[in-house]
Amino acid sequence: MIATSRKPFMAATFLLLVTLQSSSSPTTVVTTSTAANALLKWKSRLPSQSQALLSSWNKSNSDTAGLCSWKGIVCDAWQSVMGLNLVHVSINGTLRGLNFSSMPNLTMIVLVNCLLSGVILPVFSNLTKLTDLDLGLNSFSGGFPAFLGYLKSLQSLGLTDNLLKGTLPGSIAALTNLTSLNLKNNQFSGDFTSFIRLISSLPLQTLMLSSNFTGAIPSSIGKFTKLTMLYLGNNMFSGSIPSYIGSLNSLQQLYLRSNSITCHIPCTIGNMSSLVRLCVLDNQIHELRT
Ligand SMILES: *[C@@H]1O[C@H](CO)[C@@H](O)[C@H](O)[C@H]1NC(C)=O
Ligand SMILES: *[C@@H]1O[C@H](CO)[C@@H](O)[C@H](O)[C@H]1NC(C)=O
Ligand SMILES: *[C@@H]1O[C@H](CO)[C@@H](O)[C@H](O)[C@H]1NC(C)=O
Ligand SMILES: *[C@@H]1O[C@H](CO)[C@@H](O)[C@H](O)[C@H]1NC(C)=O
Ligand SMILES: *[C@@H]1O[C@H](CO)[C@@H](O)[C@H](O)[C@H]1NC(C)=O
Ligand SMILES: *[C@@H]1O[C@H](CO)[C@@H](O)[C@H](O)[C@H]1NC(C)=O
Ligand SMILES: *[C@@H]1O[C@H](CO)[C@@H](O)[C@H](O)[C@H]1NC(C)=O
Ligand SMILES: *[C@@H]1O[C@H](CO)[C@@H](O)[C@H](O)[C@H]1NC(C)=O
Repeated sequence: MIATSRKPFMAATFLLLVTLQSSSSPTTVVTTSTAANALLKWKSRLPSQSQALLSSWNKSNSDTAGLCSWKGIVCDAWQSVMGLNLVHVSINGTLRGLNFSSMPNLTMIVLVNCLLSGVILPVFSNLTKLTDLDLGLNSFSGGFPAFLGYLKSLQSLGLTDNLLKGTLPGSIAALTNLTSLNLKNNQFSGDFTSFIRLISSLPLQTLMLSSNFTGAIPSSIGKFTKLTMLYLGNNMFSGSIPSYIGSLNSLQQLYLRSNSITCHIPCTIGNMSSLVRLCVLDNQIHELRT
């Protein structure tokens, strides 16, 4: 009786030990110095001129306090890396070899105008806390990275001024907290109406797209009632501006410059009480319809 009841008890103890061990090991392995090592390893592969721009990233300055003082590194109150913020720093390389898994608490990655190139590798896909990702003004090529749809916490995504092309994937629709989507000055293509339908439930406040999208601006644009900035300049939209645009009563800035929009500006524009800037230059628009 005693012997048979001991067996399951021992098995349970064993399981408990195993669970404790496997759950505690990743937290002890991933330390701040792991992050420092990952960043140093990436730096070592960059051209020497670029390494010189990151002189604070060095071994003798790589304890926790040192790491948190590195150029572009932002730490939280617990000295865990929460931001990588480099703007106008000529990194002149790719993201290959930068192990972002060593910085699992990253909420912000801003690498703007850093001479980065190559495809946007799925190096960020484990960063479940990431809210802001801005890779604007670089030379990233290839398609829109579909894995970005796994970054469920994303609130702001900026890929402006790169060489990205192809259609925009359905995975964007999974970013249910996304308030800002800036894809200006790339070469995306596809059916704008279906893209708008796809993202219509996102709480967008900023939407910026310029990529030779064709067709008419669909009436469903009126669903984005939280929008404050809508930039659709430099596309190839034709047809007229839908009167439903008048539903965008939070909209402050509307750019439709350089398209092939014809006809009149609908009088519903008078209902857009927040509008302070309207640019429709370089279209075939006539006077306001009354
Ligand atoms: C390492 O970084 C610190 C802090 O920026 C700097 O004072 C020091 O000169 C650097 N050391 C090397 C070898 O670059
Ligand atoms: C991430 O943040 C959690 C909670 O603040 C903390 O316990 C953990 O040590 C941090 N991880 C790293 C690698 O900094
Ligand atoms: C980028 O790095 C290459 C060497 O890898 C170098 O030839 C080129 O001049 C660098 N460009 C800039 C703008 O630093
Ligand atoms: C990246 O970092 C994580 C966490 O430190 C580690 O488990 C993993 O092995 C690293 N991957 C590579 C390719 O170095
Ligand atoms: C993401 O995490 C998983 C499990 O820890 C790991 O196998 C995978 O290599 C990681 N991916 C990246 C891109 O770091
Ligand atoms: C989305 O935002 C809400 C409100 O800030 C937050 O409670 C929720 O956790 C967020 N969702 C994700 C997936 O981050
Ligand atoms: C749009 O097409 C024109 C002519 O084909 C091209 O010159 C321009 O670079 C394209 N613009 C974008 C943003 O793709
Ligand atoms: C403006 O909004 C009011 C109230 O929401 C509505 O009754 C009216 O029809 C709208 N006018 C136009 C031109 O859309």
